[in-house]
Amino acid sequence: MANNILVTGGAGFIGANLTLKLQSMYPDSKILVLDDFTSANFKNLIKFKGEVLACDVSTDELFFKVEDFNPNMIFHLASITDTTVTDQELMMRKNVDGFKNILEIAYDNNATVVYASSASVYGNVKEHVPLKEDREKHPENVYAFSKYVMDNIAEDFSKDTGLKAVGVRYFNVYGPGEAHKGKFASMIFQLYKQMKEGKRPRIFEYGEQKRDFVYVKDAVEMTILAMNAPKTTVYNVGSGEPHSFNDVIKYLNEALGTNYEPEYFECPYDFYQEYTHADMTKAKEELGFVPKYHLKEGIKEYVDIMEGKIDYPIR
Ligand SMILES: NC(=O)c1ccc[n+]([C@@H]2O[C@H](COP(=O)([O-])OP(=O)(O)OC[C@H]3O[C@@H](n4cnc5c(N)ncnc54)[C@H](O)[C@@H]3O)[C@@H](O)[C@H]2O)c1
Repeated sequence: MANNILVTGGAGFIGANLTLKLQSMYPDSKILVLDDFTSANFKNLIKFKGEVLACDVSTDELFFKVEDFNPNMIFHLASITDTTVTDQELMMRKNVDGFKNILEIAYDNNATVVYASSASVYGNVKEHVPLKEDREKHPENVYAFSKYVMDNIAEDFSKDTGLKAVGVRYFNVYGPGEAHKGKFASMIFQLYKQMKEGKRPRIFEYGEQKRDFVYVKDAVEMTILAMNAPKTTVYNVGSGEPHSFNDVIKYLNEALGTNYEPEYFECPYDFYQEYTHADMTKAKEELGFVPKYHLKEGIKEYVDIMEGKIDYPIR
């Protein structure tokens, strides 16, 4: 079926992987990418054949840029992703106002929206338990707060209008196309870079903190499946299996054929999250989503792509 698919933030990390997957899944559809290029890399879209326009989705420019496109599917990933931004007004304007504009466009075109939420809405959970979507939220910074507000707005807007807006609550996504994110790229990328420079990978003492790392191909698959959600709701997007930073280094060593020992250093923060773990039951039951990549396999494939051993449209 031919669709008109709008992807915001499509020149970013997850957005570009998503755009290229959509291009291969829907060869007869039109795909329009909008991105303000504040944290993007145009090289992520070199294999993309559709239209790419510079646009800040939080401004009225959005309405002009989309005027004749009539999207029936909208993937909204555009967002400030620098979680250390402390300018609260800026964060709220870009992330929340931008999302409201997208909901208006969706409503005008009778489109379905899938938008990027974040596991950061759960906050610093102290118990080592799988996090269910409906548990209490404790956003600890204004980035997380903006995502929390987006989840609430989606629900309200949907109640008022009947529009379907589905949140995908990403955990720690890693994979090709994230290098432009610098210190906000995944720890897997940071540690890979250190090891490639011949350095011992540096992690906080004693590397046993665990994260739910999810490979970008799984995150993209889940994002596309979310279009089929029965109603407005939010789904966790993780692997469902937390792994320690020591595990990450072990798998990087295996993939690179090296034998680096971690270099531990004291964590400078008063509070550092020990554990994140996505409960993936809802995504499995409602959308049939099962992550395909164990961390070991995801890291192996990612390293092979970065080393040029596997062909992938983004490196
Ligand atoms: N990568 C992760 O682990 C992760 C975790 C949780 C949530 N997320 C969410 O997933 C989405 C994609 O993140 P990513 O990791 O690909 O980061 P990214 O920074 O690579 O992508 C964000 C994209 O949005 C664009 N953008 C920012 N503000 C914009 C605006 N006002 N108008 C138009 N474009 C704008 C940027 O230029 C960039 O291309 C974001 O919404 C992010 O909050 C990502």
